[in-house]
Amino acid sequence: MRSLNGATAVITGGASGIGLATAHSVAKRGARLVIADIHADNADRAVADIRADGHTAEAFVCDVAKEQAFADLGEFTRQRYGSVDIVMNNVGVLTSGRPDHLPVGEWERIIKINLMSVVRSNAVFLPQLISQGHGHIVNTASFAGLYTYSYDRIPYAATKAAIIQISEGLRLYLHPLGIGVTVVCPGPVATNILATMPPTFGPEVQTGLPGEQFGILQPEEVGEQVAEAILNDTFMVYTDDQVRDVLVERATDWNSFIAKQTEKLAQR
Ligand SMILES: NC(=O)c1ccc[n+]([C@@H]2O[C@H](COP(=O)([O-])OP(=O)(O)OC[C@H]3O[C@@H](n4cnc5c(N)ncnc54)[C@H](O)[C@@H]3O)[C@@H](O)[C@H]2O)c1
Repeated sequence: MRSLNGATAVITGGASGIGLATAHSVAKRGARLVIADIHADNADRAVADIRADGHTAEAFVCDVAKEQAFADLGEFTRQRYGSVDIVMNNVGVLTSGRPDHLPVGEWERIIKINLMSVVRSNAVFLPQLISQGHGHIVNTASFAGLYTYSYDRIPYAATKAAIIQISEGLRLYLHPLGIGVTVVCPGPVATNILATMPPTFGPEVQTGLPGEQFGILQPEEVGEQVAEAILNDTFMVYTDDQVRDVLVERATDWNSFIAKQTEKLAQR
């Protein structure tokens, strides 16, 4: 999109962390916001802050895991603003446990929140974007979807890998139709995500880290990266470019890469 001025942006999980920072970044470039979040107080606070900065925002309280959530969100956005231009599917939650201790029900919870929310969002918003012939979709994935550095968060990593695949497929389909797609793959960012993670299933486990080279970013840095990616129609946003080296290493020799990752974990 050449300009965000007057554009309507819907951001799920927009009341905290990366979603909230992106809301501020696009608002200051002139976008009107719908902050969709399960946490009503935080959504109201986010909207009050954006309005205090002189911008336009509305809160919509929803649980993205619920079947009806996106139909209601779409209708709310249409009533308030008339159309939607940017949809950021950003909600993501963590879970932790050894693979033989993670209950099937926990897998289902993570898949519903992290992955099916993207599917349901697309079911509502894609036809609208396609019929108007412009717009931009942002999906928040993770380094965890790009390569494997731990074994205790497999449901999370699996949903993030799926989101990357969905984003790639959508990019192929939507680019000729005038609609942009961005997939954001953050490394570590200082947000509230760990606070909402349930206790580890089964015995405690040492979580592997994506790599010592990656520092912890502030969400505001990621928000700016996302806003610029929408403006420049950038597909892949790595929050830290050093991740390219890791990906090259894996692509060059996947067997030795996974052996090295296994060894690193054993040493922790
Ligand atoms: N923080 C990191 O280090 C990091 C790294 C890689 C990827 N990510 C991804 O970034 C995205 C944003 O996470 P964050 O780190 O900003 O976390 P966060 O916890 O600060 O923000 C997430 C927001 O989502 C909301 N939310 C949670 N479940 C919801 C539901 N069912 N329905 C509606 N809203 C819901 C929360 O209330 C919260 O406001 C996630 O997809 C996460 O996987 C984060």
